[in-house]
Amino acid sequence: MKFLLIGKYGQLGWELMRTCMTLGEIVAVDYPEVDLANSHALRELVQTVKPDILLNPAAYTAVEKAESEFEVARLVNGVAPGVLAEEMKKLGGALIHYSTDYVFDGEKGSSYIENDAPNPINAYGVTKLEGEQQVAAVEGTYLIFRTSWVYSLRRAGFISKVLNWARTQEVMRIVDDQIGSPTWARMLAQASAQVIIQGGTSILDYLCQHRGLYHLAGAGAATRYEWARAVVEFDPNKEEQVVKQILTAKSADFPAIARRPVCSALNCDRFEETFNIHLPDWKSSIRLLMG
Ligand SMILES: NC(=O)c1ccc[n+]([C@@H]2O[C@H](COP(=O)([O-])OP(=O)(O)OC[C@H]3O[C@@H](n4cnc5c(N)ncnc54)[C@H](OP(=O)(O)O)[C@@H]3O)[C@@H](O)[C@H]2O)c1
Repeated sequence: MKFLLIGKYGQLGWELMRTCMTLGEIVAVDYPEVDLANSHALRELVQTVKPDILLNPAAYTAVEKAESEFEVARLVNGVAPGVLAEEMKKLGGALIHYSTDYVFDGEKGSSYIENDAPNPINAYGVTKLEGEQQVAAVEGTYLIFRTSWVYSLRRAGFISKVLNWARTQEVMRIVDDQIGSPTWARMLAQASAQVIIQGGTSILDYLCQHRGLYHLAGAGAATRYEWARAVVEFDPNKEEQVVKQILTAKSADFPAIARRPVCSALNCDRFEETFNIHLPDWKSSIRLLMG
Protein backbone atom coordinates (compact mmCIF):
# COMPACT_ATOMS: atom_id res chain seq x y z
CA MET A 1 0.00 0.00 0.00
CA LYS A 2 1.24 3.47 -0.86
CA PHE A 3 0.39 6.60 1.12
CA LEU A 4 0.76 10.26 0.37
CA LEU A 5 0.88 12.29 3.57
CA ILE A 6 0.50 16.04 3.26
CA GLY A 7 1.51 18.03 6.35
CA LYS A 8 4.21 15.78 7.84
CA TYR A 9 5.50 18.45 10.22
CA GLY A 10 2.16 19.35 11.79
CA GLN A 11 1.04 17.96 15.15
CA LEU A 12 -1.09 15.25 13.59
CA GLY A 13 1.00 14.74 10.45
CA TRP A 14 4.08 14.06 12.58
CA GLU A 15 2.25 11.33 14.48
CA LEU A 16 0.61 9.88 11.35
CA MET A 17 4.02 9.52 9.76
CA ARG A 18 5.23 7.46 12.70
CA THR A 19 2.06 5.49 13.24
CA CYS A 20 1.53 4.52 9.61
CA MET A 21 5.15 3.76 8.70
CA THR A 22 4.59 0.02 9.12
CA LEU A 23 1.48 0.00 6.95
CA GLY A 24 3.20 0.68 3.64
CA GLU A 25 5.36 3.11 1.72
CA ILE A 26 4.75 6.71 2.73
CA VAL A 27 5.60 9.70 0.58
CA ALA A 28 5.42 12.61 3.01
CA VAL A 29 5.50 16.31 2.17
CA ASP A 30 4.77 19.64 3.80
CA TYR A 31 4.78 23.36 3.08
CA PRO A 32 6.63 24.90 1.24
CA GLU A 33 7.54 21.75 -0.72
CA VAL A 34 3.86 21.55 -1.52
CA ASP A 35 1.42 24.44 -1.22
CA LEU A 36 -2.20 23.47 -0.74
CA ALA A 37 -3.15 26.86 -2.09
CA ASN A 38 -1.75 25.83 -5.48
CA SER A 39 -4.31 23.47 -7.03
CA HIS A 40 -2.26 22.83 -10.12
CA ALA A 41 0.81 21.70 -8.14
CA LEU A 42 -1.41 19.57 -5.91
CA ARG A 43 -2.90 17.73 -8.86
CA GLU A 44 0.57 17.10 -10.24
CA LEU A 45 1.79 15.79 -6.90
CA VAL A 46 -1.05 13.28 -6.57
CA GLN A 47 -0.74 12.18 -10.18
CA THR A 48 3.00 11.65 -9.76
CA VAL A 49 2.88 9.79 -6.43
CA LYS A 50 -0.25 7.76 -7.27
CA PRO A 51 -1.09 6.82 -3.68
CA ASP A 52 -3.70 4.26 -2.65
CA ILE A 53 -4.53 6.43 0.33
CA LEU A 54 -3.98 10.16 0.72
CA LEU A 55 -3.76 11.38 4.32
CA ASN A 56 -4.43 15.09 4.64
CA PRO A 57 -3.84 16.48 8.13
CA ALA A 58 -2.46 19.71 6.63
CA ALA A 59 -4.52 22.82 7.08
CA TYR A 60 -4.41 26.54 7.64
CA THR A 61 -4.91 26.30 11.41
CA ALA A 62 -4.19 29.88 12.54
CA VAL A 63 -7.68 30.67 13.78
CA GLU A 64 -6.96 34.33 14.53
CA LYS A 65 -5.05 35.05 11.29
CA ALA A 66 -7.71 33.37 9.18
CA GLU A 67 -9.98 36.34 9.88
CA SER A 68 -7.66 38.66 7.93
CA GLU A 69 -6.26 36.06 5.51
CA PHE A 70 -9.58 34.53 4.55
CA GLU A 71 -8.73 33.96 0.89
CA VAL A 72 -5.55 31.99 1.62
CA ALA A 73 -7.28 30.03 4.38
CA ARG A 74 -10.11 29.27 1.98
CA LEU A 75 -7.76 27.96 -0.73
CA VAL A 76 -5.98 25.70 1.77
CA ASN A 77 -8.93 24.52 3.87
CA GLY A 78 -11.85 24.94 1.51
CA VAL A 79 -10.66 24.39 -2.05
CA ALA A 80 -7.65 22.03 -1.74
CA PRO A 81 -9.55 19.16 -0.06
CA GLY A 82 -11.91 19.04 -3.03
CA VAL A 83 -8.98 18.96 -5.44
CA LEU A 84 -7.40 16.11 -3.48
CA ALA A 85 -10.71 14.23 -3.44
CA GLU A 86 -11.05 14.61 -7.22
CA GLU A 87 -7.53 13.36 -7.89
CA MET A 88 -7.99 10.39 -5.56
CA LYS A 89 -11.27 9.52 -7.25
CA LYS A 90 -9.50 9.49 -10.63
CA LEU A 91 -6.89 7.12 -9.18
CA GLY A 92 -9.51 4.88 -7.58
CA GLY A 93 -7.94 5.53 -4.16
CA ALA A 94 -9.16 6.98 -0.89
CA LEU A 95 -8.81 10.31 0.90
CA ILE A 96 -8.61 10.57 4.67
CA HIS A 97 -9.17 14.19 5.58
CA TYR A 98 -9.43 16.00 8.92
CA SER A 99 -11.83 18.71 9.95
CA THR A 100 -12.81 20.60 13.05
CA ASP A 101 -15.37 21.09 15.81
CA TYR A 102 -15.26 24.78 14.83
CA VAL A 103 -17.76 24.04 12.07
CA PHE A 104 -20.32 24.34 14.89
CA ASP A 105 -21.56 27.51 16.55
CA GLY A 106 -21.39 25.95 20.02
CA GLU A 107 -24.96 26.85 20.93
CA LYS A 108 -26.33 23.29 21.18
CA GLY A 109 -25.54 22.97 24.87
CA SER A 110 -24.32 19.38 24.60
CA SER A 111 -21.83 17.44 22.49
CA TYR A 112 -22.36 17.44 18.74
CA ILE A 113 -23.19 14.45 16.56
CA GLU A 114 -22.42 14.23 12.85
CA ASN A 115 -26.01 15.03 11.83
CA ASP A 116 -26.12 18.31 13.73
CA ALA A 117 -26.25 21.30 11.44
CA PRO A 118 -22.93 23.13 11.16
CA ASN A 119 -22.93 26.89 11.54
CA PRO A 120 -19.37 28.22 11.85
CA ILE A 121 -18.85 31.50 13.67
CA ASN A 122 -15.31 32.26 12.54
CA ALA A 123 -13.43 32.36 9.25
CA TYR A 124 -11.41 29.22 9.98
CA GLY A 125 -14.61 27.27 10.63
CA VAL A 126 -16.18 28.59 7.44
CA THR A 127 -13.22 27.43 5.36
CA LYS A 128 -13.01 24.01 7.03
CA LEU A 129 -16.72 23.44 6.46
CA GLU A 130 -16.29 24.28 2.80
CA GLY A 131 -13.49 21.70 2.65
CA GLU A 132 -15.80 19.01 4.08
CA GLN A 133 -18.49 19.89 1.56
CA GLN A 134 -16.08 19.85 -1.36
CA VAL A 135 -14.77 16.41 -0.41
CA ALA A 136 -18.27 14.96 -0.02
CA ALA A 137 -19.45 16.51 -3.30
CA VAL A 138 -16.82 14.61 -5.30
CA GLU A 139 -18.47 11.35 -4.18
CA GLY A 140 -15.25 9.38 -4.15
CA THR A 141 -13.97 7.19 -1.36
CA TYR A 142 -13.30 9.40 1.62
CA LEU A 143 -13.32 9.57 5.38
CA ILE A 144 -13.58 12.93 7.07
CA PHE A 145 -12.56 12.84 10.71
CA ARG A 146 -13.76 15.90 12.57
CA THR A 147 -11.66 16.45 15.62
CA SER A 148 -11.29 18.98 18.43
CA TRP A 149 -8.62 20.79 20.47
CA VAL A 150 -5.67 18.82 19.06
CA TYR A 151 -2.52 18.87 21.19
CA SER A 152 0.98 17.45 21.28
CA LEU A 153 4.30 18.51 22.76
CA ARG A 154 5.72 18.94 19.30
CA ARG A 155 4.52 22.43 18.55
CA ALA A 156 3.84 25.52 20.61
CA GLY A 157 0.20 25.13 21.58
CA PHE A 158 -2.06 25.10 24.60
CA ILE A 159 -0.04 22.48 26.52
CA SER A 160 3.31 24.23 26.12
CA LYS A 161 1.70 27.58 26.98
CA VAL A 162 0.20 26.17 30.18
CA LEU A 163 3.52 24.57 31.18
CA ASN A 164 5.25 27.88 30.56
CA TRP A 165 2.68 29.91 32.51
CA ALA A 166 2.94 27.44 35.40
CA ARG A 167 6.68 28.18 35.52
CA THR A 168 6.39 31.96 35.27
CA GLN A 169 3.13 32.99 36.97
CA GLU A 170 1.99 32.45 40.55
CA VAL A 171 -1.62 33.01 39.53
CA MET A 172 -2.91 31.60 36.26
CA ARG A 173 -6.26 32.59 34.77
CA ILE A 174 -7.85 30.18 32.30
CA VAL A 175 -11.23 30.51 30.64
CA ASP A 176 -14.01 28.20 31.71
CA ASP A 177 -16.57 29.32 29.13
CA GLN A 178 -15.16 27.31 26.22
CA ILE A 179 -15.82 23.58 26.18
CA GLY A 180 -14.25 21.09 23.78
CA SER A 181 -12.84 17.58 23.55
CA PRO A 182 -9.05 17.72 24.03
CA THR A 183 -7.49 15.25 21.61
CA TRP A 184 -3.92 13.92 21.70
CA ALA A 185 -2.49 13.97 18.19
CA ARG A 186 -0.94 10.53 18.77
CA MET A 187 -4.27 9.00 19.77
CA LEU A 188 -5.86 10.54 16.69
CA ALA A 189 -3.13 9.08 14.46
CA GLN A 190 -3.42 5.66 16.10
CA ALA A 191 -7.19 5.56 15.71
CA SER A 192 -6.79 6.56 12.05
CA ALA A 193 -4.20 3.82 11.48
CA GLN A 194 -6.42 1.25 13.18
CA VAL A 195 -9.19 2.01 10.72
CA ILE A 196 -6.77 1.40 7.86
CA ILE A 197 -5.52 -1.83 9.42
CA GLN A 198 -9.08 -3.10 9.77
CA GLY A 199 -9.49 -2.92 6.02
CA GLY A 200 -6.68 -5.44 5.56
CA THR A 201 -6.07 -6.41 1.97
CA SER A 202 -9.50 -5.03 0.96
CA ILE A 203 -8.76 -1.63 2.40
CA LEU A 204 -10.15 0.43 -0.47
CA ASP A 205 -13.44 -1.54 -0.54
CA TYR A 206 -13.59 -1.26 3.23
CA LEU A 207 -13.11 2.51 3.18
CA CYS A 208 -15.66 2.82 0.37
CA GLN A 209 -18.24 0.87 2.41
CA HIS A 210 -17.63 3.10 5.43
CA ARG A 211 -17.10 6.37 3.64
CA GLY A 212 -18.45 9.49 5.26
CA LEU A 213 -18.07 11.89 8.13
CA TYR A 214 -17.07 10.84 11.66
CA HIS A 215 -16.36 12.66 14.87
CA LEU A 216 -13.04 11.48 16.29
CA ALA A 217 -11.71 13.11 19.45
CA GLY A 218 -10.74 12.45 23.06
CA ALA A 219 -13.77 11.09 24.88
CA GLY A 220 -15.75 13.45 27.07
CA ALA A 221 -15.63 17.19 27.35
CA ALA A 222 -13.60 19.74 29.27
CA THR A 223 -13.41 23.46 29.74
CA ARG A 224 -10.09 25.07 28.92
CA TYR A 225 -9.75 25.58 32.69
CA GLU A 226 -10.13 21.84 33.36
CA TRP A 227 -7.75 21.06 30.54
CA ALA A 228 -5.09 23.40 31.98
CA ARG A 229 -5.56 21.95 35.48
CA ALA A 230 -4.91 18.46 34.12
CA VAL A 231 -1.73 19.63 32.40
CA VAL A 232 -0.44 21.22 35.60
CA GLU A 233 -1.41 18.14 37.59
CA PHE A 234 0.39 15.67 35.30
CA ASP A 235 3.45 17.86 34.66
CA PRO A 236 6.39 15.49 35.30
CA ASN A 237 8.62 18.40 36.39
CA LYS A 238 6.32 19.91 39.00
CA GLU A 239 9.29 21.15 41.03
CA GLU A 240 9.84 23.77 38.30
CA GLN A 241 6.34 25.20 38.76
CA VAL A 242 5.83 28.49 40.58
CA VAL A 243 2.05 28.58 40.12
CA LYS A 244 0.07 28.70 43.37
CA GLN A 245 -3.44 29.34 42.12
CA ILE A 246 -5.34 28.57 38.93
CA LEU A 247 -8.38 30.80 38.65
CA THR A 248 -11.25 30.73 36.19
CA ALA A 249 -11.67 33.55 33.70
CA LYS A 250 -14.03 34.45 30.88
CA SER A 251 -13.23 34.60 27.18
CA ALA A 252 -14.20 38.27 27.21
CA ASP A 253 -11.21 38.89 29.54
CA PHE A 254 -8.88 37.99 26.65
CA PRO A 255 -10.10 39.88 23.61
CA ALA A 256 -9.61 37.87 20.42
CA ILE A 257 -10.27 38.61 16.77
CA ALA A 258 -11.99 35.31 16.02
CA ARG A 259 -15.05 34.14 17.95
CA ARG A 260 -14.87 30.66 19.47
CA PRO A 261 -17.82 28.31 20.01
CA VAL A 262 -18.89 28.07 23.65
CA CYS A 263 -19.31 24.30 23.56
CA SER A 264 -18.03 22.33 20.58
CA ALA A 265 -17.34 18.98 22.25
CA LEU A 266 -17.84 16.05 19.90
CA ASN A 267 -19.89 12.91 20.40
CA CYS A 268 -17.82 10.13 18.79
CA ASP A 269 -20.27 7.21 19.13
CA ARG A 270 -20.57 6.75 15.37
CA PHE A 271 -16.81 6.31 15.00
CA GLU A 272 -16.54 3.94 17.99
CA GLU A 273 -19.48 1.80 16.89
CA THR A 274 -18.59 1.66 13.19
CA PHE A 275 -14.95 0.76 13.67
CA ASN A 276 -15.16 -0.92 17.09
CA ILE A 277 -12.42 1.37 18.38
CA HIS A 278 -12.31 2.64 21.94
CA LEU A 279 -11.50 6.31 22.33
CA PRO A 280 -9.85 7.01 25.70
CA ASP A 281 -11.15 9.85 27.82
CA TRP A 282 -9.40 13.16 27.27
CA LYS A 283 -7.72 13.23 30.67
CA SER A 284 -6.07 9.82 30.48
CA SER A 285 -4.35 10.80 27.22
CA ILE A 286 -2.87 13.87 28.89
CA ARG A 287 -1.51 11.66 31.65
CA LEU A 288 0.16 9.42 29.04
CA LEU A 289 1.53 12.35 27.04
CA MET A 290 3.14 13.88 30.11
CA GLY A 291 4.68 10.54 31.08
N1 LIG B 1 -5.05 22.11 16.30
C1 LIG B 1 -6.30 22.00 16.71
O1 LIG B 1 -6.66 22.37 17.85
C2 LIG B 1 -7.36 21.39 15.81
C3 LIG B 1 -8.67 21.29 16.29
C4 LIG B 1 -9.65 20.70 15.47
C5 LIG B 1 -9.30 20.25 14.22
N2 LIG B 1 -8.04 20.38 13.77
C6 LIG B 1 -7.73 19.89 12.43
O2 LIG B 1 -6.88 18.76 12.58
C7 LIG B 1 -5.95 18.71 11.49
C8 LIG B 1 -4.53 18.65 12.06
O3 LIG B 1 -4.29 19.81 12.86
P1 LIG B 1 -2.85 20.07 13.51
O4 LIG B 1 -3.09 20.69 14.84
O5 LIG B 1 -2.01 18.87 13.40
O6 LIG B 1 -2.33 21.21 12.53
P2 LIG B 1 -0.89 21.91 12.50
O7 LIG B 1 -0.02 21.38 13.60
O8 LIG B 1 -1.13 23.37 12.41
O9 LIG B 1 -0.28 21.37 11.13
C9 LIG B 1 -0.80 21.77 9.92
C10 LIG B 1 0.24 21.49 8.87
O10 LIG B 1 -0.27 21.97 7.61
C11 LIG B 1 0.75 22.71 6.99
N3 LIG B 1 0.25 23.71 6.07
C12 LIG B 1 -0.30 24.92 6.36
N4 LIG B 1 -0.55 25.61 5.22
C13 LIG B 1 -0.17 24.79 4.21
C14 LIG B 1 -0.15 24.95 2.80
N5 LIG B 1 -0.58 26.06 2.20
N6 LIG B 1 0.31 23.93 2.06
C15 LIG B 1 0.78 22.79 2.63
N7 LIG B 1 0.80 22.60 3.96
C16 LIG B 1 0.34 23.60 4.74
C17 LIG B 1 1.49 23.36 8.13
O11 LIG B 1 2.75 23.85 7.69
P3 LIG B 1 3.35 25.18 8.39
O12 LIG B 1 3.60 24.84 9.80
O13 LIG B 1 4.59 25.46 7.58
O14 LIG B 1 2.30 26.25 8.23
C18 LIG B 1 1.57 22.22 9.12
O15 LIG B 1 2.65 21.37 8.87
C19 LIG B 1 -6.26 19.93 10.63
O16 LIG B 1 -7.15 19.57 9.62
C20 LIG B 1 -6.96 20.88 11.57
O17 LIG B 1 -7.83 21.76 10.89
C21 LIG B 1 -7.04 20.92 14.55
